[in-house]
Amino acid sequence: MTDDVLTSAAEGVATVTLDRPAKKNALTTAMYAALADALDAAEADADVRAVVLQGDETVFCAGNDIRDFLDRPQAGTDDPAFRFLRTIARFPKPVVAGVCGPAVGVGATTLLHCDLVYAGEGATLHFPFVDLGLVPEAGSSLLLPQVVGHQRAAAALLLGEPFSAAAAADAGLVNRVLPDAEVLGHARAQAARLAAKPVTALVETKRLLRSGTQAALLDRIEDEGAVFTRLLGEPAAQAALGSFLSRPGR
Ligand code: COA
Repeated sequence: MTDDVLTSAAEGVATVTLDRPAKKNALTTAMYAALADALDAAEADADVRAVVLQGDETVFCAGNDIRDFLDRPQAGTDDPAFRFLRTIARFPKPVVAGVCGPAVGVGATTLLHCDLVYAGEGATLHFPFVDLGLVPEAGSSLLLPQVVGHQRAAAALLLGEPFSAAAAADAGLVNRVLPDAEVLGHARAQAARLAAKPVTALVETKRLLRSGTQAALLDRIEDEGAVFTRLLGEPAAQAALGSFLSRPGR
């Protein structure tokens, strides 16, 4: 159980809000479980026809909680983190993301599973896995090059170069860039537009849009997860993660 993920539903839209601002919405094991539960509930609720996934006006998500990574090594692909990734990868209804500020690690790769992404002018999408001694997850080694092309994916995944909001929109990762203060309202309005449409047509269209990659995507999440979990226990990752937590002033 956690209070760090808030859920609400109104007028056909379920809103899932990351609410751990003191830690930049870094995801704990309990938060992954809550996210997976929220999506399962949204799938089961016939009144829900679209989902908004958001942080606040300053931060979307700083990725996996690094303290959690060090204190509680992932139990493998049965871990709540992988349950959440499989759930969002298979989620049948449209998901709209509202992204302000940093989206790092799984905070960025989760966006590849959203159908519409609206970003604030100050948003950044950062995939720093290699610098942390890790590999991409959430199927991002498959999805990112599909969206942005191999070279831009290599700059993001090998060099760890972040996308600014403008670069993310140019690369096709983001539908539209707005002033930070307008992002969450716009995401909500777009989700309401979706929720007003015939639900079977929405769900079938999303299924068809994804059908070419769906099986490969679920396989890739497993492949990446096995390597990720192994590398997490190795010295390079332990040192990189440890040095984040022991930065000067901490
Ligand atoms: N895990 C655990 N704690 C995190 C975190 C994470 N992924 N990201 C941020 N925090 C914590 C910081 O330790 C700090 O806690 P403290 O105030 O108790 O010391 C607090 O959140 C604020 O973070 P800070 O770095 O001071 O904020 P910032 O605005 O300067 O930078 C980020 C924001 C997101 C750019 C920066 O925090 C960051 O790079 N985080 C790590 C991202 C990452 O590598 N994620 C893992 C990917 S696999």
